[in-house]
Amino acid sequence: MSRVKVGVIGLGFIGPVHVEAIRRTGVAEVVAVCGNNFEKAQKKAAEMGVDRAYPDYKQLLADPEIEVVHICTPNNLHYQISKEALLAGKHVVCEKPLALEMEQCDELIELGKKLNKVCAVNFNMRAYPIVQQVRDMIERGDLGEIFSINGSYTQDWMLLDTDYSWRAEPKYTGCTRTVADIGSHWFDMIEHICGQRVTSVCADFATFYKVRKRPLKPVETYSGKILEPGDYEEIPVETEDYSTVLFRMGDKIHGSCTTCQTMAGRKNRLYFEIAGSKAMVAWDSEKCNELWIGSREGANQTLIRDASLMYPNAAGYTSYPGGHNEGFADSMKHHMIRIYDDIINHSGASHATFEDGRREVEICNAVYESAVNEKWVKL
Ligand SMILES: NC(=O)c1ccc[n+]([C@@H]2O[C@H](COP(=O)([O-])OP(=O)(O)OC[C@H]3O[C@@H](n4cnc5c(N)ncnc54)[C@H](O)[C@@H]3O)[C@@H](O)[C@H]2O)c1
Repeated sequence: MSRVKVGVIGLGFIGPVHVEAIRRTGVAEVVAVCGNNFEKAQKKAAEMGVDRAYPDYKQLLADPEIEVVHICTPNNLHYQISKEALLAGKHVVCEKPLALEMEQCDELIELGKKLNKVCAVNFNMRAYPIVQQVRDMIERGDLGEIFSINGSYTQDWMLLDTDYSWRAEPKYTGCTRTVADIGSHWFDMIEHICGQRVTSVCADFATFYKVRKRPLKPVETYSGKILEPGDYEEIPVETEDYSTVLFRMGDKIHGSCTTCQTMAGRKNRLYFEIAGSKAMVAWDSEKCNELWIGSREGANQTLIRDASLMYPNAAGYTSYPGGHNEGFADSMKHHMIRIYDDIINHSGASHATFEDGRREVEICNAVYESAVNEKWVKL
């Protein structure tokens, strides 16, 4: 069987995760990669067993064998590379956030439609089986009427003033850092599982380090902790380390979400609890194979991820029997399976699309406007 030929642009943290997930679909093959350092890209290509590395993304886009392009670069490049990839006739899988501006999202959506290409955004966290189980439970009315949703997405990799990433600088990351970087997953997930939309937001931001020390040599995400204290330059920080967003959703739901990258010990924890008139559920991505189900009348339960205990849709997002834990890499695989099914079989979008990417930019912009002006903002 001939496999779909894929190129991956950006080889820091998430690029290699894409390479692995694409391979695990069984229907696609990564034939080329590209970073912004040719020597490093060649080394990574060799390590990952990828045929060729290109010194420049434009050369990768000009490769006629490549049908799908994955964009895993810093945020500020997503719009430009997506646009050029579509114009080069490729399907596009872009990392979040889709772009820095709403107009850019609109342009990309229109272009994708005009050229009839699959346009996906990698909100892979939707594809955790327990997240899909919660979606199914809500759809079937197991929770009753939803009253409130509270949660957070917290990390600690920016805890020290020597922790630096391009994510700290608005020219690369956009107007928000924690909201765009991790809050986008949280809000995408909540809207996806509830089938309702956030209607207004009220946000409080804090930047605990007004100045950070930027290493004078290149640093990739999460690698800060293995750098020797060495040569740094001080840079002013304009993006938030912390945000709490109050929100309203649909006609009745009230909620809150905290995003933070300076919480010691929280490595990469997305948490939500959804309280309904019949039952409540809570999920923690660091214990992603378990769902807590709260009950007023009976004993509370813990559902362990196991296809035989889950609704059929959610069961379709698991690959291994219960007790054989699945995690982040598996959520990537299941998201990619759906994207490639759409590319090959025109099955329609059971994956996150450019429209979903646009929605998150809209929410981020509203949150930012609210924080800056200290007022509620309607969406
Ligand atoms: N879906 C997820 O769970 C998830 C997780 C992490 C990151 N992301 C997203 O992925 C993107 C990358 O994040 P990361 O953590 O991998 O960052 P990173 O800094 O570790 O890697 C970025 C890579 O982009 C490359 N790059 C920069 N400019 C380039 C150019 N002009 N041409 C080609 N390559 C270029 C760099 O060489 C580097 O390898 C971000 O937009 C981020 O929001 C998503």
